[in-house]
Amino acid sequence: MDILETIKTRYSCRSYQNKPVEPEKLNTLMEAARLAPSARNIQDWRFVIVTDPQIRRSLQQAAAGQEFVGQAPVVIVACSCTNKHMNLCGQPYASINVSIALEHIALAAVSLGLATCWIGSFKPQSVRSILNIPTHIEIVELMTVGYPADRPKSPKRLSLDRIACHETWDFRES
Ligand SMILES: Cc1cc2nc3c(=O)[nH]c(=O)nc-3n(C[C@H](O)[C@H](O)[C@H](O)COP(=O)(O)O)c2cc1C
Repeated sequence: MDILETIKTRYSCRSYQNKPVEPEKLNTLMEAARLAPSARNIQDWRFVIVTDPQIRRSLQQAAAGQEFVGQAPVVIVACSCTNKHMNLCGQPYASINVSIALEHIALAAVSLGLATCWIGSFKPQSVRSILNIPTHIEIVELMTVGYPADRPKSPKRLSLDRIACHETWDFRES
């Protein structure tokens, strides 16, 4: 599958088959994350891979009760070990670096026949206490992983002319 086809195939999967993800496939996902770029190459990402059903059910509660979070065979809890910001642009390392690595995971998952969903609706304090994550660690996002039991809906996206312009800012709205 070429990269654009992989991108087109990815969707937010909210129903999973009752089938574990093979450890080799999980390793491949982590390898995809490991190879991601990061500002100053700080590689601040840390991933807690949760497959234990009881812990997944606790994570579901921490994630606004979203049912598929407990149903997915794997929940990746994506953290950063820095809360620093980039000097000049002021953007946080954590959310940018960890998000790039997570999207590597999401696209690698497609290539392995797996599906994923980003989870931003969660209470960090609850996740911290469930997984025993130290207070100096930022919990950036969760991601469910598994074999899909649903089908993608056609993606709703803005047209190209609404999101890109050339040379100088030239958007009618926003
Ligand atoms: C940072 C982020 C957080 C998200 N959080 C959730 C979430 O908590 N629950 C959920 O069902 N979907 C969540 N999503 C999925 C988005 O709703 C989804 O990506 C968007 O609707 C586009 O659909 P698609 O991923 O199927 O193309 C999240 C996506 C991103 C990128």
